[in-house]
Amino acid sequence: MKITSLDALQIFDSRGNPTVEVIATLEDGTTGHGLVPSGASTGHHEALELRDGDQSRFRGKSVFNAISHVHGEIAHAVVGRDVFDQSGLDAALISLDGTPGKSRLGANAILGTSMAVAQAAANAKRVPLYASLGDGTLLPLPEIQIFGGGKHAQGRIDIQDFMIMALTAKSYDETLEVTSNVFQAAADIMRQRGLLAGVADEGGYWPMFDRNEDVFDALLAAIELAGYTPGREVGISLDIAATDLFHDGHYTLGLEKRRFTTEEFAALMIEWVDKYPIVSIEDPMAEDDWEGWKIVRNAIGHRCQLIGDDHFTTNITRIERGIAANTANAVLIKLNQIGTVTETLAAIRRTQAAGWLPVVSARSGETEDAFIAHLAVATNAGQLKVGSFSRSERMAKWNEVLRIQRQLGSRARFIGAGIFSQAGISLP
Ligand code: PGA
Ligand code: ZN
Repeated sequence: MKITSLDALQIFDSRGNPTVEVIATLEDGTTGHGLVPSGASTGHHEALELRDGDQSRFRGKSVFNAISHVHGEIAHAVVGRDVFDQSGLDAALISLDGTPGKSRLGANAILGTSMAVAQAAANAKRVPLYASLGDGTLLPLPEIQIFGGGKHAQGRIDIQDFMIMALTAKSYDETLEVTSNVFQAAADIMRQRGLLAGVADEGGYWPMFDRNEDVFDALLAAIELAGYTPGREVGISLDIAATDLFHDGHYTLGLEKRRFTTEEFAALMIEWVDKYPIVSIEDPMAEDDWEGWKIVRNAIGHRCQLIGDDHFTTNITRIERGIAANTANAVLIKLNQIGTVTETLAAIRRTQAAGWLPVVSARSGETEDAFIAHLAVATNAGQLKVGSFSRSERMAKWNEVLRIQRQLGSRARFIGAGIFSQAGISLP
């Protein structure tokens, strides 16, 4: 089935910033849409999001150049190709761009095209996207944010994500029930303390705290108020996003005016895992602090998931270096960090082949598209991170997994936190 045309338009993400939507049309009239998300706490090794930089329009953030690349060179290369040859198409886009970071045509232009073609292929086959992308049937264990901080809350607190994971849930539905209960209880706690002040970029409560560690107290109180035992039914998961805390060779917690060397910051991460029921930490150390990562991995990698986000940027070369140096045991997977569906699938497979865990993730700037819900199920990734339990760009993904569960029927599988043992992680 041939691709007959490509169209693109500027749409807006969940922060109201411009982003790219691509529409692929096939010879039988079938279409597929690709909506591109956008990060705020981006890693330096990510593929390039092409923005126009014209300060007179959308504060420099418009994406009209990326869109004209879709209409021009990209359409020229793609029209006439077989929609079912995703890897051939993505390889053609990579070589057409010709730069390591997709900086000439823009990773937003390329990814929008890649996603639109993947969706058109599924539509042409008349199957859901998850069934077209792979043969997986495993519903993911969600990591769901309760408090948002870091760059998603104007640096109000230093740590970016305080999340929970429903450790003993027997089904995907139960994970959402547990999360809903804790999320509502957290609102009660904040209200009681006079600290309720809206939500941050990913829908978690705005962090009105004086110290980073105060958030743990509020989170533990919320878990207990909801009727659960922290560390038993509900575990804590953090995204430190430590790259944003690392400047001139030191880590800084600005809220507390504390400064740390690599060894001291690694020791703080280890201390927190000893002190609190933490089951997962993402980016505990800065993206290129390979020695710091090794310290943390050696100390706690057997009892805590350690996810590289900025550290790996869904880039197979960096993932392989991490596997060789044993710096983590899990990889955050974001389509727009690398820029094509094929490279994203390869990053997931490489992670799984090493006995590590892929965690499929949204960005802080999201759209109404639920591609990643399908990606998580298609690849048996086992985990999904989408931000909080509010705002429809987040709920679109959690809800889509409910629909996939229904479509899979008795073929749907759920192992929840059982996935940790696949990476040799035993929770205490
Ligand atoms: P970002 O945040 O999309 O702003 O990069 C998400 C994350 O750090 O995981
Ligand atoms: Zn992150």
